Amino acid sequence: MTDDSDLYEPYDRLVTIEVAGRRVSVPEGNRLLRCFQYLSLRSISYGDFCWNGECTNCQFWYREPGDDERDPDRTALSCRFDVREGMIITRLSPGIRLEGFDDAAPPAPAATAADATAGQHDPAPPAPEG
Ligand code: FES
Repeated sequence: MTDDSDLYEPYDRLVTIEVAGRRVSVPEGNRLLRCFQYLSLRSISYGDFCWNGECTNCQFWYREPGDDERDPDRTALSCRFDVREGMIITRLSPGIRLEGFDDAAPPAPAATAADATAGQHDPAPPAPEG
């Protein structure tokens, strides 16, 4: 097992946040991208991140308790943002992949026969003879 104790800022406790509809515990006093790394060590460690606010690959959208639901979600760069207890992360940049969270996505609508053939490239029907 990897000793990852140097990855994180020192912390005394975990704080609870919501990510993709799941309540998770992450180390307080850390940048959110580090918290994502805490949740998904491999994918974040090997992800395409500059860790210094330049690439924007770590962008996320969120709400905080008490936010007016009519207001648009806030957004920030997770490598520059300190985690806050109770925050609700509503969307992640495609570059942020959290292992084990894919199955947290809402189920896809039931497929129909039309869906099954959509996107298939059948040859054009023969021209009518005339
Ligand atoms: S990791 Fe590049 S901007 Fe945050």
